[in-house]
Amino acid sequence: MGERAIVMSGIRPTGYLHLGNYFGAMRNYVRLQETYTCFFMVADLHALTTHPDTSALKENVHRVIAENIACGIDPDKAALYCQSHVRETSELYLYLNMLAYLGELEKTTTFKEKARLQPDNVNAGLLTYPVLQTADIILHRATWVPVGKDQEQHLEMARNFVKRFNHRYGEVFPEPAAYNFGDDLVKVPSLDGTGKMSKSENQLATLYLADSDEQIRKKVMKAKTDAGPSAPNTPKPDYIENIFQLLSLVSDKEVVATYESAYNECSIRYGDMKKQLAEDMVRFIAPIREKAEQIRTDHAYLSRIMEQGAEKARASAQKTMDLVRSAMGLDY
Ligand code: TYM
Repeated sequence: MGERAIVMSGIRPTGYLHLGNYFGAMRNYVRLQETYTCFFMVADLHALTTHPDTSALKENVHRVIAENIACGIDPDKAALYCQSHVRETSELYLYLNMLAYLGELEKTTTFKEKARLQPDNVNAGLLTYPVLQTADIILHRATWVPVGKDQEQHLEMARNFVKRFNHRYGEVFPEPAAYNFGDDLVKVPSLDGTGKMSKSENQLATLYLADSDEQIRKKVMKAKTDAGPSAPNTPKPDYIENIFQLLSLVSDKEVVATYESAYNECSIRYGDMKKQLAEDMVRFIAPIREKAEQIRTDHAYLSRIMEQGAEKARASAQKTMDLVRSAMGLDY
């Protein structure tokens, strides 16, 4: 990664942020903002593809901005903004739509999943979701995109759209790539051993950054376990692996090592392990929740932050759009 590489990422305001958003995305944002030119936004336009009712949108946008700040984003370092405040996004999205083929869009995993979940609203925005995401990223000519594992395919599509654009109109955009400190992209599993933590599905098995101490304890203690291994060094079933993975995110290394050995020696007590996980989780989440709660209700502050972020994002976007229009011959 070059010295002043450009970094861009986004989060949809479709529900409460959770541990997956933190470890897949925000933890990386906080580190990257120290060294790189960062653009982090709330993807309110993307939210419209699945949440057409906008009555709670403003509140959700505010909450995501507040939670980003509570997790450590410094709005004076990174541009923290709202997607719809940067109108250039919509223009670039339109141009990129002419380069995206129906076949590849229909094959996208997230499209197929969402079409299955909302069969009565398979709208064109859902289909072209990865095109809009590409516009967000390349609008700043970003090269690094800190995201969780579930976004890998969208990034691959972004590279394809960029290659196609550059091939047709000339080299305007660098190719963006998904980014994580430490090599692999992260997937934070749900507490019930099926799938991942999510804003809108699997809520009882997802730990939200806004959960109370009691909710956290309750959810962790309910996580599925069994009677424990009956032979030394048995491979872990998925749901046990998940608990270990969560432990390794929030607990000290020695604590994790102790439970690993106990597992391998068949002396593990899952009740104790979950109590430990619950307390470490509370210790991790409580300060974020409290800080976000303070910021969330300060609407004047939030508006100021969003405007400051949007100004930085627009300045960057306008430069790119000049290059785009001229490369495309739309500069008459
Ligand atoms: P979204 O809102 O679903 O999720 C925001 C970020 O959190 C990560 N994430 C996870 N990481 C690990 N484990 C999990 N269980 C987990 N759940 C969510 C996601 O990978 C993501 O990084 N399409 C994007 C939003 C977006 C965007 C962009 C991202 C719009 N424009 C431009 C990057 C660049 C999305 O729906 O994220």
